[in-house]
Amino acid sequence: MKFFIDTANLDQISEAQSLGILDGVTTNPSLMAKEGITGEKNIIDHYKKICSIVDGDVSAEVISTDFEGMIKEGETLAALHPQIVVKLPMIKDGIKACKYFSDKGIRTNVTLVFSSGQALLAAKAGATYVSPFLGRLDDISTDGLHLISEIRHIYNNYGFETEILAASIRHTMHVIDCAKIGADVMTGPLSSITGLLKHPLTDIGLAKFLEDYKKGN
Ligand code: E4P
Repeated sequence: MKFFIDTANLDQISEAQSLGILDGVTTNPSLMAKEGITGEKNIIDHYKKICSIVDGDVSAEVISTDFEGMIKEGETLAALHPQIVVKLPMIKDGIKACKYFSDKGIRTNVTLVFSSGQALLAAKAGATYVSPFLGRLDDISTDGLHLISEIRHIYNNYGFETEILAASIRHTMHVIDCAKIGADVMTGPLSSITGLLKHPLTDIGLAKFLEDYKKGN
């Protein structure tokens, strides 16, 4: 299972990278705005900075909603760095753009996916990643994990190579449940990754080991 961090915060990206288990970064316009990164030039520079910190894939989202605009933006983004994956919204022109990029060998992440039908279309269009937003489904009393299972089942039926990128992860149990289902990738906040470290018995056990070591010295 690949671990992506879902943020545009450079300190958090560096912290996750320093753990040695980070496989990539996902961003979106809201995450950029949260860090105060606005304007095309600043956003482009920020993507370059993120690519210089991590070794893995960095999803960079287009703002256009029409085919021509997405192609122009996506080609500019893809040319920035080999790690860039062009993130496209799950709309009609997004699917057309996904097919265009996939035919050209440019990697894509189809985002804002909330149904298995949408995920099926993304796979048919040759998406590298499909991003079902499980947390946002949970927010409206709909089972987000069920969607991840359904997509896994459908992709397995046909051997689709599109990787399921479980997005909108909110906490560690989402990560574990997605791993059980067989999602290829998770993306979430730093806390959903570092939270996996925690167990009180580990802390108690370590304290005891250190205490006993000191007794013998
Ligand atoms: C995915 O790529 C999105 O950036 C993200 O996971 C959305 O998460 P949110 O629902 O917590 O905003």
